Amino acid sequence: MAGLILGIETSCDETAAAVVAGGRQILSNVISSQIELHRPFGGVVPELASRNHLENISLIIEEALAAAGITWEDLDGIAVTYGPGLVGALLVGVTVAKAIAFARRIPLVGVNHLEGHIFSNFLAHPQLEPPFVALVVSGGHTDLLQVLDYGQYRPLGQTRDDAAGEAFDKVARVLGLGYPGGPQIDAVAREGNPEAISFPRAVIKDAPLDFSFSGVKTAVLNYLNRARQRGEAIDTADVAASFQAAVVEVLVERTLAAAAQCGVDRVAVCGGVAANSALRSLFQERSAGTGIEVLYPPLVLCTDNAAMIASVGYYRLQAGHTAPLNLNAVANLPLESWG
Ligand code: KG4
Ligand code: ZN
Repeated sequence: MAGLILGIETSCDETAAAVVAGGRQILSNVISSQIELHRPFGGVVPELASRNHLENISLIIEEALAAAGITWEDLDGIAVTYGPGLVGALLVGVTVAKAIAFARRIPLVGVNHLEGHIFSNFLAHPQLEPPFVALVVSGGHTDLLQVLDYGQYRPLGQTRDDAAGEAFDKVARVLGLGYPGGPQIDAVAREGNPEAISFPRAVIKDAPLDFSFSGVKTAVLNYLNRARQRGEAIDTADVAASFQAAVVEVLVERTLAAAAQCGVDRVAVCGGVAANSALRSLFQERSAGTGIEVLYPPLVLCTDNAAMIASVGYYRLQAGHTAPLNLNAVANLPLESWG
C-alpha cells in the first residue's frame, strides 16, 4: 500500500495535522502555534489551549489534505496523539480522529507523543534504521533510550525532576526573557560567556544516565537574588550562557556515554530542545573522533508537529496495531514497546 496516513497532534499548544506517505515522506505538515495566545500568561493555559484546538482543528486538517493534494478516500489510516500531554487538549485531537475514522471507515491508530518525537528523525533521515540511542529532550521530557527496533525501546535514563526544556522556560522567566524560554535563552546566550558563572552539573548516584535540572535552576535563582541584594549588576547574557552550558554539557556527555555503553554508532536527538544551537555544537565537538554520528530533525520537526505522529502511525498500522473507537486521552501515558 502507498500508506498515506493523516496525523493529528493537539497534546499541548500546537494544533497540527500532516499527511505522510510510507512513514517517511512528508506530503504536508500544517502547524498552528498558540504561542501568542499564551504569551501574556508566561506559559500554556490548559483551558485556553483546548478551546483554541477546538476552533482550529477542522480547518487545519482540511488544509493538510489540500496541501498534500489528496482526498479522504486516499487515506489508509488516521493517527492521533493520545498522550502524554494536557488531557483537555489531547481530547480534542482524539475525539476528532475517532469521528473521522468512524465516518470515513478509516483505521485509527493511537500514538504516544514521545514516540512521535523519536520518529521525527525517520522523517528527516531516510537512511536511519534502528538500533540507535535516542535523546528525547523537550518541555515535558528528558529521556535517554535505546531504540532496538521500530517500536522496541529500552529505557536508559530520565530526569528525576524538571525536564530540560522546563528548566530553560523557568530560567528565562526569572531573567525576564519571556515565553517560550528556550529560544530566548539560546539567542541571548550567543552574546554571553558560558564560563562566566559555574552552575552545578548534577550527578545522580547509582544512576549515571539519569538527569536532574532543578538544582541548576535553583542555583540561577540564588545567584540572581544574591546579586540583587548586593546591588551588583547582572549580565543577563552571561547568566543565560552559563546556565545553558551547564544543561547542555550533561545532556551531551550522558548521551554519548549511553551510545558507547550500548555499542551503537548513531544517536538521534529530538524534541524542542534539540533546536538549541549550543547543544548541537557541543554534540559536534564531543562526538568528533568517537565514531558516533549525531542526527537531528530540522527545526520544524524538533518542536511539536503531526508529521511525526503520522510516521509512528504508519509503522504501527503495518504491525497490525489499530485503536478501538473508544480510545481515550491519557495525560501521563508511559512509553511502551509494541514492536
Ligand atoms: O517538543 P516541544 O515543542 O513540546 C513538548 O513536547 O514539550 O518542546 C518545547 C520545549 C520548550 O520548553 C522550549 O523552551 C524548548 O522546547 N525549546 C528550546 C529551544 N527551542 C525550543 N530550548 C532550548 N533552545 C532552543 N532553541
Ligand atoms: Zn513535544
